[in-house]
Amino acid sequence: MIFPYYSDQMHGFSLYKGDAMQLLTEVTDKFDMVFADPPYFLSKGFTIKTKSGYIRTFDKGEWDKQTTPDKVEDFNRRWLTLCKDRLNNHGTIWVSGTYHNIFQVANCLIGLDFKILNIVVWQKSDPPTTFTNQRFNFSAEYLIWARKTEKVAHYFNYDLTKELNGGVHMPDVWKIPSVANWEKKCGKHPTQKPLHLLYRIILANSRPGDKILDPFAGSCTTGIAARLLGRKFVGFDLDEKYLDIGRRRYEQLADETIAEKMLKKISENPEEVMVIVNHARKELREKMIETGICYLRAGDSQGSLLVTSGFERLQYLLLHTSGENVEMFRLKSKGSFQIWTKETLEKYGFTPEHAPYYVVLKFDGSKTVEFKRYSRLKEGLNTYRAKIRPLSDFIGIK
Ligand SMILES: C[S@@+](CC[C@H](N)C(=O)[O-])C[C@H]1O[C@@H](n2cnc3c(N)ncnc32)[C@H](O)[C@@H]1O
Repeated sequence: MIFPYYSDQMHGFSLYKGDAMQLLTEVTDKFDMVFADPPYFLSKGFTIKTKSGYIRTFDKGEWDKQTTPDKVEDFNRRWLTLCKDRLNNHGTIWVSGTYHNIFQVANCLIGLDFKILNIVVWQKSDPPTTFTNQRFNFSAEYLIWARKTEKVAHYFNYDLTKELNGGVHMPDVWKIPSVANWEKKCGKHPTQKPLHLLYRIILANSRPGDKILDPFAGSCTTGIAARLLGRKFVGFDLDEKYLDIGRRRYEQLADETIAEKMLKKISENPEEVMVIVNHARKELREKMIETGICYLRAGDSQGSLLVTSGFERLQYLLLHTSGENVEMFRLKSKGSFQIWTKETLEKYGFTPEHAPYYVVLKFDGSKTVEFKRYSRLKEGLNTYRAKIRPLSDFIGIK
C-alpha cells in the first residue's frame, strides 16, 4: 500500500514522493491525460559568461545532469511504457522538451505505438538571451501530443479552441510568455512551466472531472491548472522541496477568492481574441445595428485617443443598453478602426453631440454571434464607457 505525500480527497488531488519509475507501478489508477515535463538532461554543472557579461549556471539539479544517449533513451522508453499502462484507452499524453530530448521522446512514442497528434511549438514571447552569437536565439519549446492507440478516438474540444482563436481552427504554434513572477510566490522551481500553457492543454484535451497524471510534477503547475479547471490530479516528484512548493500553491486555492482571481489570470491569453463592449441607448443601438457602424468618442474632452492593449485583437462587438438587450456581432475587420468627423457620421443619419472626432468600428449588423454569458455589464460608474474584454468572458469556459 502506497501513501501520498499530500492529498485532498475532496478535490481528488494527490502528490506522491519518489521515483516515477516505481510510483508508476504502485499507483494503479487509470488516467484520461498525462502531462509530462521530464528531465531534458541539459545540466552540465558549470557556469559560463554570456556575451552580455552575465554569469549563467547550467545546473538545474542532479536529476537533469547530462548523460549518454543510451541512458536517455532507456529512461524515456521506461517511463513512457509505464505511462501507457496508466492511460485509459481514449487517453492522451503530452510531453514537453527542447531539441535536446524531444526527437528521442518522439522515437520512443512511435516505437511504443502511440499515435502522434501534434507537435505544438510553444513560442516564448519573452525568451532569455542565448549565451552564444553563433546560433539563432532559442525561443521555443516543443510539446508532443499523442494518443494511446491508433484505434481509439481521443477527446479534443475543437469548438472551444476555435472560439478562443477568433472562429479559426487553432494552430499548433502558441505564443505564450515564460512563467510570470506571481506564479513563483510559493517558491521557485528551476524549470517551472507557465500556468497558461497547462490551462490551454487541459481545456483542449480533457473534460471536467477527468483524471490527469504528471509523473515529473515539480512545482505542480499541472496540478494547479487541473484543480482550477475542476479536473482530478496525481503528481509525482523525487524532491520533497518541489512537492512542498506544489502543496503551498495548492493550499492557497482553498480561498475561493484567490482561486477565482487565479483562474481569471491564467485564462489571460496574450493572443486571445477580444470583444469591445459598448453601451448605447436604445434608438442609437438600433441605428448602429441597421448601419453596421459603431462609434465611440475619440478620447477625453481634450480630444486625445487612448487605444489600450488588446485593441489589435478586437474581433467582436457586444452592444447593450445599460446591461439589457445584449447582442454580439463580428467586426468586419480585425483590430482596425477609422477616425470619422461628426459631419461624416451625420451623413449616415447619426446625431453625435459630444466631440468633433469619433472612433468608428464597422460590423455585420445582419448576423448576431451566439455566446453564453454576459456577466458584469452594469458596473456602476463605468457602464457607459466602452471596454475591451477577452472573448472567454462571454463563451463560458470550463
Ligand atoms: C522539468 S521539471 C518539471 C517542472 C514542472 N513542470 C513545473 O512546472 O514545476 C522535472 C521534475 O522531475 C523531477 N524528477 C526528475 N527525475 C524524476 C524521477 N525519476 N521521478 C520523479 N521525479 C523526477 C525533478 O525533481 C523535477 O522537479
